[in-house]
Amino acid sequence: MTNESTKSGASGFTLIAHRGFSSDAPENTYDAFDLAIENGFNNIETDVQLTSDGVAVLIHDGTLDRTTTGSGPVAEVELAYVNSLDAGIWFEGPADSIGRRGPGAYGESFVPTLEEFLARYEGNVNLHLELKSHEQELVDVVAKLIDEYGWSKPESPATPGVSISSFDASQLWRSKKTMPHLDHGFLLRRITQLDCELAVSLGCSGIYPNAGGVTVGDVEMAVRSGLVVRTWGVKTDEDLLRSRSSGAAGTTVDWPLRAKKILEG
Ligand code: G3P
Ligand code: CA
Repeated sequence: MTNESTKSGASGFTLIAHRGFSSDAPENTYDAFDLAIENGFNNIETDVQLTSDGVAVLIHDGTLDRTTTGSGPVAEVELAYVNSLDAGIWFEGPADSIGRRGPGAYGESFVPTLEEFLARYEGNVNLHLELKSHEQELVDVVAKLIDEYGWSKPESPATPGVSISSFDASQLWRSKKTMPHLDHGFLLRRITQLDCELAVSLGCSGIYPNAGGVTVGDVEMAVRSGLVVRTWGVKTDEDLLRSRSSGAAGTTVDWPLRAKKILEG
């Protein structure tokens, strides 16, 4: 297995800021992405979907309701509507550095487009991009932007670049065909031999199980198939420690700074 090492994680185990530093700022906004970077975490995970007019936007849920002032499916609204929404009012995390909460604390809390993200963080971030929605066109839109902005495969977890992940095997298949030069990872709940074989057949170099149930045996099985394992779904300190002791190369986590401290003992 690749022995990943990065300044943004405990040695040999990469901590990826999940939806940005999403425990302390509204997920998938520049507030959360910038906070991750300010704290030394240049590995950032985010989710991409298409609006009805074909623009790639960074949002997790299939609907706008939970994380914005709008409502309805992302796929049924145009970018102009998404741009009119606040994406920070809902957030009830810690106050900012001067004690503000809510909208005043998150000046740039709108839904970013992928294009804006790629322009803003070019050369500065190792982006772990999850293809969240299922439209065939999503892959072409993402691939065009990645190409236009010149993002490529990172040389190591500590260097800038982009890789792709998805729970959707069809999207991974399309994406790997369209962007063969990028690493792809198959998201799933639990590693099985069949899923390792599927991941390899899709052209993936990684397999990404939930941290809560991952075992040393699961990781060894994936490694025998030539796959790098990193986990997701870390909810507790135990999940984090379980992920590292399984032999996984890293994990996404909402609270990367606390995770780093835990792992450093
Ligand atoms: O790190 C992968 C993870 O983001 C997958 O789950 O639901 O948070 O997108 P979700
Ligand atoms: Ca995700």
